[in-house]
Amino acid sequence: MKGLILSGGKGTRLRPLTYTSAKQLVPVANKPVLFYGIEALAAAGIREIGIVVGDTQAEIRAAVGDGSAWGVTVTYIEQDAPRGLAHAVLISERFIDGEPFVMYLGDNLLNKGITRFTEEFMRERPAAQILLAHVPDPQMFGVAELSDGRVVRLIEKPKEPKSDLALVGVYMFSAAVFESVKRIKPSFRDELEITDAIQDLIDRGLEVRPHIVDGWWKDTGKLEDMLEANRLILDTIERDIQGCVDAESRVEGKVIIQKGAVVERSVVRGPVIIGAGARIVHAYVGPFTSIATGAEIRDSEIEHSIVLEGSVISDLANRVEDSLIGKNVRIYRLPVKPSAYRFMLGDNSEVGIRW
Ligand code: TTP
Repeated sequence: MKGLILSGGKGTRLRPLTYTSAKQLVPVANKPVLFYGIEALAAAGIREIGIVVGDTQAEIRAAVGDGSAWGVTVTYIEQDAPRGLAHAVLISERFIDGEPFVMYLGDNLLNKGITRFTEEFMRERPAAQILLAHVPDPQMFGVAELSDGRVVRLIEKPKEPKSDLALVGVYMFSAAVFESVKRIKPSFRDELEITDAIQDLIDRGLEVRPHIVDGWWKDTGKLEDMLEANRLILDTIERDIQGCVDAESRVEGKVIIQKGAVVERSVVRGPVIIGAGARIVHAYVGPFTSIATGAEIRDSEIEHSIVLEGSVISDLANRVEDSLIGKNVRIYRLPVKPSAYRFMLGDNSEVGIRW
């Protein structure tokens, strides 16, 4: 069985971060989202992984390399533009070469991995197997209708959903899917939709099996979900203090402080991860916060947030919450009067000020 990870796409919902970086490399608990997917495939015994890449391919190639860090071989498959998930399958036919494969969306996280699903698929050998999760807002997802243990219909973002079972970003296919991705036409948003390809398998009378996931699943394509994924992963960490914590600081609960990080005159209340070389000085870092390598929090408070490499937050009067701060960002208070906000923000930035 081979693996296909989709790591191209537009990433419009995570702008402005995605103007400069791949969304699949945004760290969750200080590890790129994409790495969790590679780990899940490797844990399922998959050794050959194709990664579909787009505009951000240089960054993805630099981060993942040849896959040897995970004991797998990675082949990069270039997609000229984000023409849809089924288009990504279409251009991967040569790499897949007739084998069954698992397709994994590079910005998705599944806490219990995929091993049970790949085993079931290889045992039962249906044409396709899809993963489904119960969601409170099915009209936001691709939704499956089931009958007698089979999928009978898939509808993309239905206005009146017939079930609350949303398509999770992990799919297993036999080579039969290639005929379907060649038969379908682009949708109204001009993409080849994977739901249409799977519907085509069903219409051809082939078996599409559903599998309902029991653990949590997150698509990290937008801010709230990224923060939620960070919360869920941080909830599972064990305390491990390798960095330097001075006697005036308090570090409570499940906290990872990596080597070379410094915590001075501060309170850190877990679950929190603080990356190598980060500095926390006279600050409060509250639950569900990930501070990346080399970032600095000084005379400020932060919680339920992700701060990327090299960013500095200093002298803020109010606590930073529910935030995703990119690389090398500076947020600080000016010592001069009159008091005012002074911004230099990229296109599509978002600033929320709560009184
Ligand atoms: P999406 O999150 O559905 O699409 P997107 O990345 O274009 O994001 P947005 O809706 O915010 O603009 O894509 C799911 C995953 O599949 C993600 O990792 C990107 C990847 N992908 C491709 O590799 N090629 C494609 O043509 C598309 C549409 C997505």
